[in-house]
Formats: sequence, structure tokens, C-alpha cells
Amino acid sequence: MQPVDLVIFGASGDLSARKLFPALFQLLKAGLLPEDLRIAAIARDEVSKEAFLEVLRERFTSRMGEYAPDDDEWQRYSEHFAYIAADFSVIDQYSALKDWLDDARISLFYLATPPSLFAPICSNLDEANCLTGDCRIVLEKPIGESLETSRHVNNTLAKHFDESSIYRIDHYLGKETVQNLLVLRFANRFINSQWDHSCIDHVQITVAETVGIEGRWSYYDNVGQMRDMVQNHLMQLLCLVAMEPPNSLDAESIRDEKVKIVKALRTIDASTVDEHLVRGQYSRGWSVGNAVPGYLEEPGCKASTSNTETFVAIKAHIDNWRWAGVPFYLRTGKRMAEKVTEIIIHYKELPHNIFGRGRNFPNALIIRLQPDEGIEMAMVSKRQSLKDKLALQTHTLNFDFRDGDESERIPDAYERLFLDAINGDQSLFVGREEIEESWRWVDGLIKASEAQSVDAKSYHAGSWGPAKAEILIEKDGRSWHV
Ligand code: BG6
Repeated sequence: MQPVDLVIFGASGDLSARKLFPALFQLLKAGLLPEDLRIAAIARDEVSKEAFLEVLRERFTSRMGEYAPDDDEWQRYSEHFAYIAADFSVIDQYSALKDWLDDARISLFYLATPPSLFAPICSNLDEANCLTGDCRIVLEKPIGESLETSRHVNNTLAKHFDESSIYRIDHYLGKETVQNLLVLRFANRFINSQWDHSCIDHVQITVAETVGIEGRWSYYDNVGQMRDMVQNHLMQLLCLVAMEPPNSLDAESIRDEKVKIVKALRTIDASTVDEHLVRGQYSRGWSVGNAVPGYLEEPGCKASTSNTETFVAIKAHIDNWRWAGVPFYLRTGKRMAEKVTEIIIHYKELPHNIFGRGRNFPNALIIRLQPDEGIEMAMVSKRQSLKDKLALQTHTLNFDFRDGDESERIPDAYERLFLDAINGDQSLFVGREEIEESWRWVDGLIKASEAQSVDAKSYHAGSWGPAKAEILIEKDGRSWHV
């Protein structure tokens, strides 16, 4: 394999310290990256490489607990590094990077920066002649804040990079449990053969977080949960649950199938939005045993009122052959009662019940992505009883993703994504069309909600969202799983 250089823009930022550098450390430690990997950390601070690494190590130790590097491991890790102090919005400051790059090696540029810097960095790299060899670019979300702005970002990228060299990250796709969804669906005949409207009554996808907006008020108030979580993470989960089997696992085959799902999502317009969308905003309450402020009391809040949503529940329909008549109930929120990401497949009742009234328990498949990663199958069995010959009960078959070994470390999503970007595998990265189609649907939903003035209903921090979210599903005779 051609040797690789990794250039990280925004190296002193939170994402780099929390996710990127620890992921690289784990990969190098496990011997999964080339020994000769070179890493250039680029940030504005005029400090030496040693000073940069010293601060980085402190940040590591506070977050990595038992997995933090010892002295020898840190020494070996540091040897891969160069530090370049530069203001990357200024073209004149690219000469040190240009000198460091080597045309004989693959250059992987990772933009862990605010999106406003994507365009200037790309054109500066080009103008400074840094894009002469085999170059790839990796970007963090958000790729735009609407269809129009995402097109703008994608057009800019396309001026400098071929689509086959652009790696758009949705970190949910890097999660082992999310990849397991593909295996569960396409490596198990009995699951695959029961995966459509003839067997499935409805699907629920919940991405609930206990955290609030984590000091990002100014950013968050402009985007809300719809743009922060629905357009990307939730949409990706929906696609993986609903898509047709791809021909193979290459990026193009997977992306093609995902795009078809996004395109088949029924438009929710002003005339249907009330029936299909609930928005919420948390007020003061309790989170994991601690009193927490409301959204409008968060540090950095500049407004006395805001209609930005921190919770969304949606009833969606996929208008295709497989999913005709099967509603997908989606919900995601901050400051919810529990941190849980799960997908629930609710099967239909049997066509004829031979066990008598009240003894019909439809099956459910519960796919828990985080925490306590695993799969549960709610099955019906007979309770041992001489008194009641037909005492039925729901029994749960449990599959623990860790296979009972709690000490085993589940790799972080960024480890998988780095590995794939370095190996040139785009299958877990998001293609341009998927992103733009997803924005098209989300834009329509936002527009419909604005046209009908759908308010963000208040809910207490530590609850499961506004009461209207319960009504959204209960009026169909169903209920949320947790
Ligand atoms: C990020 C969002 O993309 O995902 C955050 O911007 C959110 O608001 C986070 O908290 C959730 O990720 P995870 O991996 O903790 O579920």
C-alpha cells in the first residue's frame, strides 16, 4: 500500500482531542495503521510540537481512563507527529505544509474545522500547490444547513476533488453496532425474509440523549435537532433499516440503495405536517440525578424566547413496494430520560389466533445500538402451568453484542472511519446525492412546519419529550417502546 500522510486541520479543537487523536492512538497501538504513517497537526497556536503534544496528552489522560497511553506508548505515538502552526484561512501560511507534503505519498486532509472554513481551506490547498499527488479529503458534518447551502459546499469540493476522493463523515456509520445492522439484515435469512409490509406493522427509531446542547447555544439555536440529528444520523439509520439489499458492499452499491429510500420518503407538506411532526424544547428539570437548566437558561443563551426544537418526533412513510402502509416513527431529543439509540421492528399480529381472546402477542425485534449494544427478540412461549393450559407469555431472546465480556473495548466510530479513509474505502461515508436528497426532504418538513407555525412544545428535562409525541403514535393505537 502507498504510504499515507494525514493532515489534521483544527488539531487543537475539541473534536480532535476527544475523538480523532485517541482513535489514531488506538489504531496505531493495535498495529492497524502503516508504521510509517505521518501525521501533521495544524492549528493556529504558535507552539512547539512538544508543547502541543504535552497539552494533547493531558487531554487524553482525562478522557481515556484505563485506555490512556503509558510513557512508551506515548513516545511511539509522538514519533508519527509534526506540528504546523498556521492560520489556514490565509494562503500565505501554507508554505510549511507544502514543504512537509510528499507527492510520493497519499495525502489525507481532515477538516475538523467549522464548515465556514471548508471552502477557503480547499481553495488555499489548491492555490498553494498542495494537491499535486493522490489526495483525499475528509469532512465533518454539517455539510450545509439546507439543500441550497449543501449544494454550495459540494460544488466547492468538486472544484478541487473528485467525488471518489471525498469522504463525508456521519460518525453513526462508524459505530460497530450500526454496521451490524447490515449484517443482521443481510446475513440472516429468517430476518431478511420477514422484512416488509406483509410481516411488519411499524418501525420505531429512537435516538435519545441525556446531554443538553453542551455549551453550543449559538450554533444550536440556528440549527435545532432537525438539522443537527434528523438530516444526518437518523436519516442514515432509517436508510439502513429500510434499504433493499445492495448488490455488494462497495460504496456505490450501498449509496445507490440508500438514496432510493430517501427519494421514496413521502413529502410532509403544510396540509399534513400537524399529523406527522411534533417539535419540543426542554425546560428546566433533572438529568441523571442532577438539576439542569432549561434550553433558554443554558450558558451562552442570548434570547428570551426561541422556537428552536431540541426534540423532534416524526411519522414518516416510505412510498415503495416493500414498505407500503408501514409507518416509521422517528424521535430524537436532548435531555431525555435516558441515553438510548434503538430500532424497534414491531411485527403484525398473526392472521388467525388459535389461543383465544387476549392471547395474541405480536413479536418485536429490538436492536439496541447504544448503550448495552445488543438485540432482543420478543417471542411468545407457554408459561408452565397446570391450571391454565394456555398461559402464554412474551419471552425475550437476548443477544449481547459484547458476548458477555464487559471488559472488551468497543472501538470508537472514528477508529473505523480513519481506517477506511486511509484504506480508500468509501462505503461508510456519505455520498453527495444522499446528503442533498436528505436535505430536500428535511427542508420541506421545516418549510411546512414554519408555514403552519408548529411550535416547539415545552417538555421537562429528563422526560421523554412533550405529551404531543405520545399522541402522535397513540392515535394510531401504538405506543413508544420506552
Ligand atoms: C453530533 C451532534 O453529531 O452527534 C450532537 O452534533 C450529538 O448534538 C451527537 O450530541 C450524538 O452522538 P453520539 O455518538 O453521542 O450518539
